[in-house]
Amino acid sequence: MAKLLNKIICGDCIEVLGEVEEAFADLIFADPPFNIGYKYDKYYDKVKSKNYIAWTKEWMAVCKKVLKPYGSFYIAIGDEYAANVKVIADELGLFMRNWIIWHYTFGQQMKKKFARAHTHILYFVKDKKNFTFNDKAVRVPSDRQLIYSDKRANPAGKMPDDVWDGYPRVCGTFKEREGWHPCQMPENLLKRIIAASTNSGDCVLDPFSGSGTTAVAAKQLGRSYVGIEVSEKYVENAEKRLADLKKQGRGNLVFDAAEWNELRRLLADMEGNAKEIAADTNLLELFANQFAVRTNSKKRYSKEDIVTALKDLAD
Ligand SMILES: C[S@@+](CC[C@H](N)C(=O)[O-])C[C@H]1O[C@@H](n2cnc3c(N)ncnc32)[C@H](O)[C@@H]1O
Repeated sequence: MAKLLNKIICGDCIEVLGEVEEAFADLIFADPPFNIGYKYDKYYDKVKSKNYIAWTKEWMAVCKKVLKPYGSFYIAIGDEYAANVKVIADELGLFMRNWIIWHYTFGQQMKKKFARAHTHILYFVKDKKNFTFNDKAVRVPSDRQLIYSDKRANPAGKMPDDVWDGYPRVCGTFKEREGWHPCQMPENLLKRIIAASTNSGDCVLDPFSGSGTTAVAAKQLGRSYVGIEVSEKYVENAEKRLADLKKQGRGNLVFDAAEWNELRRLLADMEGNAKEIAADTNLLELFANQFAVRTNSKKRYSKEDIVTALKDLAD
């Protein structure tokens, strides 16, 4: 098992994981091909429906085998097979915690039906009573705090809904886009899942690594990772993406790398504009407060430090 750690393995996830006996993953995030005819380098994405369902059962079963007893399993899936994934999970004895809808902007435009602008993310656990869930790491300011300045608002913020807005698909013009993979997921979406369902040092497995987003997000949050991918080209590029990860710190050394990550993640979760937050006393107070909740920090940064960081992020 140790030989897989912090690597993107080139191979078929069913074969690779079939050979592993140890339950090593604290979290599995799987974003399989959706069987809708996407053009991948090695995988053919339009097989007979019954074969796709049988294959889904196979890879979900090997994933469950390597998931630790208190581990979590998130599966991204399209409309066509979301119901099948839920039925298979029930058969495998997994417990559903949330049926999340990732609602994105930049959906594909249609002429004869409404444009699809969502993906399902089904969140399961192996043990329905014992699992990691760090609510503080993903809380966001509530409307009571943001809009109504209501004194009764929970100062720790609220849990995000199970419909996730604020993570646009990674489009052509985005700085984050690698450009060599057809369906790269947004890093911040993965960071929400990893922050909620793992602790520092835990191991995150992605059996369909693609452009390596899960590994990149895990590495930035101080978790170990294992990625598996059939395409040599994608593996090579993802390894390069990981090696290129710039040190997360910026010019302002007040914050360490993990705190810079939190600042970015919080900014994305608040769907905020850094300049706007830095310029609005109320928003800034909420941002500073939420940052302290997320970093679980006794030390509270001064508003000046946060403003400097926000300005840095806005550049
Ligand atoms: C939807 S993409 C994953 C995208 C990824 N979440 C990202 O952000 O880049 C699915 C990937 O699974 C890979 N794949 C298909 N069958 C596989 C298998 N049996 N084992 C491992 N990888 C596979 C495809 O080559 C493709 O890159």
